[in-house]
Amino acid sequence: MNEKLWKVKISKIHGSGVFALQDIKKGATIIEYIGEKVTRKEGDRRSEKRIKKYLNSKKTGSVYIFELNQRYDIDGSFSYNKARFINHSCNPNCEVDIVKGRIWIKSIKRIKKGSELSYDYGYTFDKDDYKDHVCKCNARNCIGYIISQDDWKKYKNWKKREKIKLNKIKNDK
Ligand SMILES: C[S@@+](CC[C@H](N)C(=O)[O-])C[C@H]1O[C@@H](n2cnc3c(N)ncnc32)[C@H](O)[C@@H]1O
Ligand SMILES: [Zn+2]
Repeated sequence: MNEKLWKVKISKIHGSGVFALQDIKKGATIIEYIGEKVTRKEGDRRSEKRIKKYLNSKKTGSVYIFELNQRYDIDGSFSYNKARFINHSCNPNCEVDIVKGRIWIKSIKRIKKGSELSYDYGYTFDKDDYKDHVCKCNARNCIGYIISQDDWKKYKNWKKREKIKLNKIKNDK
């Protein structure tokens, strides 16, 4: 891991973030997300506990549990894991690459020195709790909530249907 590529500092998105210390080329392996390997059940338990405590904290992140595969999570909430400070963006410059049980953060475009690193957290859209995770990434295409780009269509279609339902209720009154 090349530590000279990045630095942790205060972010405009949320709390702390990770920033490029130099121009980074597309396809570069930047940092590994490290932590304790736990079962998905234990990961869920730890996640719930932390979300209850920190969900609305402006400084401390509420989610550091990373889904490794169908059986295991990585709990990255330890000070040695600097990758835990990478925020989510609706227009990310990095992606996650899981190779043989290890989680790597790689650039998906050229990143200019000083830019904040970000990736798509990949949260699936769930109508019951998506509002818990408001997105403040400031990207032009920001969808407003931390939702995986894979689920944007699902979210938009659901919103459309909700709007139609609401209008129907209004018109029926
Ligand atoms: C893995 S941490 C990222 C580091 C975090 N900024 C910190 O200082 O601990 C994940 C947490 O950061 C916050 N976060 C990350 N991306 C965000 C975004 N785009 N908008 C709002 N909050 C975000 C949320 O609280 C989320 O649970
Ligand atoms: Zn966003």
